[in-house]
Amino acid sequence: MDTNGTYRAADDRYAHAADLYNRCGKSGVLLPKVSLGFWHNFGGVDPYERSRAITHYAFDHGITHFDLANNYGPPYGSAEETMGRLMEQDFAPYRDELFISTKAGYDMWDGPYGNWGSRKYLMASLDQSLRRMRLEYVDLFYSHRFDPETPIEETLQALVDIVRQGKALYVGISNWPLEPLKQAAAYLRERDVPLLIYQGRLNMLHRQPIEEGILDFCKQENIGFIAYSPLAQGLLTDRYLDGIPADSRMAKDHFLHPWARTEKLLKYLHELQAQGQAHGRTIAQEALNWILEQGVTSVLVGASSVEQLSNNIATYLK
Ligand SMILES: NC(=O)c1ccc[n+]([C@@H]2O[C@H](COP(=O)([O-])OP(=O)(O)OC[C@H]3O[C@@H](n4cnc5c(N)ncnc54)[C@H](OP(=O)(O)O)[C@@H]3O)[C@@H](O)[C@H]2O)c1
Repeated sequence: MDTNGTYRAADDRYAHAADLYNRCGKSGVLLPKVSLGFWHNFGGVDPYERSRAITHYAFDHGITHFDLANNYGPPYGSAEETMGRLMEQDFAPYRDELFISTKAGYDMWDGPYGNWGSRKYLMASLDQSLRRMRLEYVDLFYSHRFDPETPIEETLQALVDIVRQGKALYVGISNWPLEPLKQAAAYLRERDVPLLIYQGRLNMLHRQPIEEGILDFCKQENIGFIAYSPLAQGLLTDRYLDGIPADSRMAKDHFLHPWARTEKLLKYLHELQAQGQAHGRTIAQEALNWILEQGVTSVLVGASSVEQLSNNIATYLK
């Protein structure tokens, strides 16, 4: 930032490019090994200047991918509004250097058209997201979850048409089970809108995408895979080693319950800590490295401070 408070991206932001990027499947897109998620810490309830500083730090270190969804906040929509404010204030000159995603699939507005996977919902939601983020298009639009009640062709054709309309450059799916994922890959390929990426929860404590064959399928089909909640929302860090800090997600948020902090977890964390010390890494770095070793495209971290993000990317900047 210069003395007027104007953001100017670091000149050396791509200094570590050779180590930082992975190709997403067999597409033309490179994604940073660590991407930044806006689920928490970027809502209307969060201090804007802190959110802003985290995004500056990210972009200044080559993290070009920001991941959002219609209902990130709280309140719903407000993380996208933060992104819109950042776009206008700081990132407009860098739009073509950013890869911005959003999603629709969970509850967003009242009534029958604000949830799940209908064409009606997906199309309207993306229009709203673009307005909130002050963007003409997103780089990537996801179906946020599989809708067993809507014909799969309806959801997928909406994704195809969104690309044809120029509102998204690529499409992805998140949290879909394996069989519908296979159908989606085939349907989209036939329509020349190949599935760019699958977004699934994967971390040392939650290995479902590996156990269910989803990651293997993505690798076979040259579909990228981005792992969300790679630190299990902070459990796989030193955050809860000595208790529950008042400013932590566990203390503040219903998404992470205190009962998750078990004796078994603490024992595991101490083992990870010892293992990390042998490699010169923190617990978080051990956890992120483990995921990248599984052959994913990117790990999608959250951060409530610049220090956390700095810790999470340190190993890729050497
Ligand atoms: N597709 C989906 O359904 C879905 C679902 C969930 C998430 N996501 C995506 O994945 C992104 C990341 O999810 P997440 O926030 O759960 O990821 P995460 O990286 O597992 O957890 C982030 C939290 O861990 C703590 N933390 C991070 N780095 C730390 C460090 N170095 N040391 C100590 N604590 C650290 C912070 O908690 P404190 O806040 O307590 O400091 C931070 O808010 C989301 O923003 C979203 O984009 C997608």
